[in-house]
Amino acid sequence: MRRIFSGVQPSGNLHLGNYLGAIRNWARLQSDYDCVYCVVDLHAITMPQDPAELRANTREVAAGLIAAGIDPETNILFNQSQVAEHAQLAWIFNCVARLGWLNRMTQFKEKAGKHRENATVGLYAYPTLMAADILLYKATHVPVGEDQKQHLELARDIAQAFNSMFAIDLFPAPEPLIFGQAARVMSLRDGSRKMSKSEASDFSRINMTDDADAIAAKIRKARTDPEPLPGDEAGLDGRPEAANLIGIHAALADTTVAEVCARFAGQPFSTFKAALTELAVAELGPIGAEMKRLAGDPGHVDGLLHAGAARARALARPILDEVSKAVGFLMP
Ligand code: TRP
Repeated sequence: MRRIFSGVQPSGNLHLGNYLGAIRNWARLQSDYDCVYCVVDLHAITMPQDPAELRANTREVAAGLIAAGIDPETNILFNQSQVAEHAQLAWIFNCVARLGWLNRMTQFKEKAGKHRENATVGLYAYPTLMAADILLYKATHVPVGEDQKQHLELARDIAQAFNSMFAIDLFPAPEPLIFGQAARVMSLRDGSRKMSKSEASDFSRINMTDDADAIAAKIRKARTDPEPLPGDEAGLDGRPEAANLIGIHAALADTTVAEVCARFAGQPFSTFKAALTELAVAELGPIGAEMKRLAGDPGHVDGLLHAGAARARALARPILDEVSKAVGFLMP
């Protein structure tokens, strides 16, 4: 059996980077795998959160996934905190993983910054919770971005260490699914920075909820350089803004950067931007409209997440029981 698990943080303002980097891929995996998708609100609170915002963002991200085509009936879609087994297995993994392993995690160092003594224990243990997410379902494949590869590697180490500590062949080693072409979508204002919800200018990103007019305006204003478009990929060297826009075009059209260069060779940005706008509006327009519809019916989204959580728990419970037995917990 091939089972996918993946998690996404409930951060507001989903944008084209989230869509092309993760969400679209998740939707595409549904046909080939048994998929469990999770909005990771337990991970979110490793950094300070406003409670009302966390709740709203959890709904918004779930709505974004559904609007992008993830079917909550054929897959399992839920928010992490509704399945307490995640936290339970994470605790057991805290007693398997070693300080030395966690000390090497680069995300902790980045997020904790200079004041490491002040970081929460939760932030430090973030990777053991992520390992629990995946292994609670004995997932075999995990779609992740480049930045999460180290955490997935740790999940594999924890699976192996658990099996060997308790002399049992319980957990499979989950494999990463890294997407080719994985458009690293950069800011529309600065081609050297990742597109981000935290950049001050809204013109730096295309949000999944932007309508056609907003998308058109943002692409029109996107930073470029004075040269016409190059005929091949090598011509993008030293031209980060051109490379970004062409990369977005290639990803949206499901083609290669080389092909897009060949098609627009020597043309001005105005021509190219018109084509890019058409593509972006065609793909994101309907998704944004559906997100807005779902935002108007939060009870519906909540209901879907609640039902998804029940189905997730039904998969997780017997696996956690197997783990508890292996560990030696007294059980009914
Ligand atoms: N850490 C991941 C991120 O920030 C989110 C995540 C949590 C995750 N649990 C997961 C991803 C399990 C894959 C599998 O992107």
